[in-house]
Amino acid sequence: MHLLRPFVLSVLLFVTLHAPSPSAAADTLRRGHALAGSEKLVSANAKFALGFFQTGSSSSSSKNTLNYSYLGIWFNKVPVLTPVWTANRDNPVSNFTSPELIISGDGNMVVLAQGTTIWSTRANTATNDTVAVLLGNGNLVLRSSSNSSLTFWESFDYPTDTMLSGVKIGWNKATGLNRRLVSRKNSIDLSSGVYSSRMDHDGVARMLWNSSVVYWSSTWNGRFFSSVPEMSAGSGPIANYTFVNNDQELYFTYNIFDESIIIHTRLHVSGQSQWRIWTGQDWMTVNNQPAHHCDVYAVCGPFMVCTSSADPYCSCMHEGILCEITCGLGDRGQNRRNGKWSRPVVDNDKGSVGIIAFKYSDLQDATKKFSEKLGAGGFGSVFKGCLSEPIVIAVKRLDGARQGEKQFRVEVNSIGIIQHINLVKLIGFCCEGDRRLLVYEHMPNGSLDSHIFESYGTTLDWNIRYKIAIGVARGLAYLHHGCRDCIIHCDIKPQNILLDASFVSKIADFGMAKFLGRDFSHVVTTMRGTVGYLAPEWISGTPITPKIDVYSYGMVLLEIISGKRNSIQHSSSDIEGQGDYLPVQVAHKLLHGDILRIVDANLHGEVNMEEVERVCKIACWCIQDRELDRPTMIEVVQFLEGICEPEIPPMPMLLYAFAVGGSYQGECNM
Ligand SMILES: *[C@@H]1O[C@H](CO)[C@@H](O)[C@H](O)[C@H]1NC(C)=O
Ligand SMILES: *[C@@H]1O[C@H](CO)[C@@H](O)[C@H](O)[C@H]1NC(C)=O
Ligand SMILES: *[C@@H]1O[C@H](CO)[C@@H](O)[C@H](O)[C@H]1NC(C)=O
Ligand SMILES: *[C@@H]1O[C@H](CO)[C@@H](O)[C@H](O)[C@H]1NC(C)=O
Ligand SMILES: *[C@@H]1O[C@H](CO)[C@@H](O)[C@H](O)[C@H]1NC(C)=O
Ligand SMILES: *[C@@H]1O[C@H](CO)[C@@H](O)[C@H](O)[C@H]1NC(C)=O
Ligand SMILES: *[C@@H]1O[C@H](CO)[C@@H](O)[C@H](O)[C@H]1NC(C)=O
Repeated sequence: MHLLRPFVLSVLLFVTLHAPSPSAAADTLRRGHALAGSEKLVSANAKFALGFFQTGSSSSSSKNTLNYSYLGIWFNKVPVLTPVWTANRDNPVSNFTSPELIISGDGNMVVLAQGTTIWSTRANTATNDTVAVLLGNGNLVLRSSSNSSLTFWESFDYPTDTMLSGVKIGWNKATGLNRRLVSRKNSIDLSSGVYSSRMDHDGVARMLWNSSVVYWSSTWNGRFFSSVPEMSAGSGPIANYTFVNNDQELYFTYNIFDESIIIHTRLHVSGQSQWRIWTGQDWMTVNNQPAHHCDVYAVCGPFMVCTSSADPYCSCMHEGILCEITCGLGDRGQNRRNGKWSRPVVDNDKGSVGIIAFKYSDLQDATKKFSEKLGAGGFGSVFKGCLSEPIVIAVKRLDGARQGEKQFRVEVNSIGIIQHINLVKLIGFCCEGDRRLLVYEHMPNGSLDSHIFESYGTTLDWNIRYKIAIGVARGLAYLHHGCRDCIIHCDIKPQNILLDASFVSKIADFGMAKFLGRDFSHVVTTMRGTVGYLAPEWISGTPITPKIDVYSYGMVLLEIISGKRNSIQHSSSDIEGQGDYLPVQVAHKLLHGDILRIVDANLHGEVNMEEVERVCKIACWCIQDRELDRPTMIEVVQFLEGICEPEIPPMPMLLYAFAVGGSYQGECNM
């Protein structure tokens, strides 16, 4: 059976399950005895075994990985450990000290690890004189030692992801007991996953995602479940299928005709219900429901599309739609392929190179073990690297497990799938274990702040400054209006504007970006951008709009013109009563003339005055108190390109009040 798997699932093939070695064993556990280590119960027909097994990684690099111990039942004669039932799937024993199974004082079966009860049958036992017996059909029963028909508990009533012959999926109407299957989380974590399959009170069998979304359903038509005629009453070649709905019970079950056949049904991590037969060499899947993996709800995660004919069958949607990359267990074992890098996992709509999933070791080589640091920020450090001449890269290594993870996903989901000349290009990423790295094209001229605030002996001339301003405006206009969802950057400031060799500006650092669906105008965020660039409504905590980027952009424009940071400096030169606060100064000068005095002195007056005045006006409009008064980024681009002419803006009152601690008293008082 050739199963197409998504990228992440194929990684799981390298994970092994460790089965205890066989030893002669009984089928019954009695009071006063314990089952531990590699000991096991074996059913009288030798078909099933019960004992402890571990999951863990066989990779040498994972010495520190915890191995989980489970009490479970598996096919005794199948060399590939295939658990069909697990007692403590949601509470594995993670300490390597051996847990044990005993009959406790009240007659229940319990799993103990270091004196703590990890799991218990918690049955209402009428007697403490009980025994646990593993039956030939794989059912583990807790029953009276003297009367074998007095059963207090049985594993068939608590199936995990597997339905063996004889298990009833459905309801005991008298007790309310509901037997259903729940998939595993993934191939090594046996805990409950997102898919379940059950029989509902209306007699319809359903498969659900997250207990809420039905992606498969079928009704028993008297002989078989609709759409699954191969599973019909009496006539199947291997098993007899039965549907019962009476006063006491509502269930579906099957019984195999030949006890020696090794067969089971499981709800796979892919969300498909699979019938599997052991051929003597390996498992063969004889039936999948739904038949196509793409019919399983959310099989590829949000924002990805499922293509039955493709391998891997999950891929990103096109055209700037968000894309979720499943990190899971990292890229170990990727040398699943001949090339140096693994295949791109994301393709953009232009059909050019997608973004690449790098191996950590390759990035270590490319950056010479992270030796050349380009900078550091709140989320991590950036290093220079080289893929192969002449491709120079900047590798951002994210710190801090949780925050880094979030920034990682937001970056991959934003610039990972959109491209614009004024947005920094994400080449790829690495997601191995808890390592998260992002790989960008390298920007030889660094970030804007290093050019406008600290002079390197060179000063950016006015034409370059104007070009940078237009570039950032175009990049933002694209983010706000050019993609299917509006992307709000949320942290526009000179440090996040990078410059390539010819000073083309590129917006970077999308770690705080917010996505605003086309049908929405506002979005709530608990994060805050950088002080000095924060729009007043954001400070006050109301839901935000793209206009917060417009505001920050206005502040950046002022800094580009003046070469000064926009922070407040209380100084003795405060003769005109409006403070030294740059935005207020600019507004004041605009209203009173004398705009040249705020232009960066390093330019020695070598500026295009018409452009300076235009940029000042635009900046002043961008930092208006009310969102509605600020232009959109499309309008900003039109102003900068000279297509429209901005009017004289009013004084931004909040900033003024902030600067001088009072209200504005000038001639242009609105
Ligand atoms: C986990 O199991 C593997 C394989 O059996 C073993 O090499 C490793 O030492 C175990 N790890 C721990 C922490 O016991
Ligand atoms: C594992 O068990 C040993 C022995 O009881 C104990 O010393 C150790 O602290 C335990 N480790 C954890 C992580 O529980
Ligand atoms: C089992 O129950 C009997 C009678 O109820 C009691 O005398 C005996 O102590 C119990 N045994 C244990 C191990 O608790
Ligand atoms: C054994 O248990 C069954 C079921 O509770 C009961 O019907 C039967 O009478 C019991 N047999 C004896 C000998 O106690
Ligand atoms: C799954 O369902 C729960 C409860 O109904 C809900 O809170 C949760 O958001 C759902 N998960 C997803 C990923 O939709
Ligand atoms: C199938 O199972 C039902 C219910 O268990 C039984 O009545 C019927 O005789 C079985 N049919 C065959 C062919 O075994
Ligand atoms: C900008 O980058 C180019 C190409 O690397 C370089 O030649 C130039 O010196 C840089 N300019 C500044 C001001 O750093």
